[in-house]
Amino acid sequence: MRSEYDAQRLIRRSPSLLDVPEGDPIEIVVAAEQVDHVIGVAVYGPDGPDAVTIWSLGVIRPRQRQGVGTSLKTAVLAEVAFRPDWPAKVQSVVHRENAPMLRINEKLNARIDTDPLDVRYCLTALVPKKLA
Ligand SMILES: CC(C)(COP(=O)(O)OP(=O)(O)OC[C@H]1O[C@@H](n2cnc3c(N)ncnc32)[C@H](O)[C@@H]1OP(=O)(O)O)[C@@H](O)C(=O)NCCC(=O)NCCS
Repeated sequence: MRSEYDAQRLIRRSPSLLDVPEGDPIEIVVAAEQVDHVIGVAVYGPDGPDAVTIWSLGVIRPRQRQGVGTSLKTAVLAEVAFRPDWPAKVQSVVHRENAPMLRINEKLNARIDTDPLDVRYCLTALVPKKLA
């Protein structure tokens, strides 16, 4: 993934991807206060043989800075830990000025490197311990 545009394109394509048996699956984890009130979403899935990419992660403004984003990323890591057939590494691309998202990665002990192809972005990587 190189940019937010890639993520948006992927999300638009995801319903058709779900119908392609050989395609990489896309998973969506949703944080909700009630059944009908979504407050945050993470979209992720295997991205080739080496990594699971988090394509997009967002929390509605009124519920930001309350731990929801951290919980969503933690839920993705837990899911990857329980998928024996998925790559071990979880990666994402974060703008270098996105302090909250970088802080979440820092709290989860992610490796954070400047993207060698575009210094405006950071590449994050985590390897949760496989449980299955
Ligand atoms: C990034 C985002 C998902 C974070 O969600 P969130 O629910 O607010 O995150 P959390 O509350 O779990 O954690 C945010 C952390 O960043 C810190 N933080 C928030 N704003 C900050 C700022 N401007 N500078 C430094 N740290 C900041 C918070 O204090 C918190 O750290 P702490 O737990 O040590 O106190 C949310 O801001 C968002 O949806 N942004 C728009 C979409 C986006 O940028 N997505 C990521 C694309 S890669």
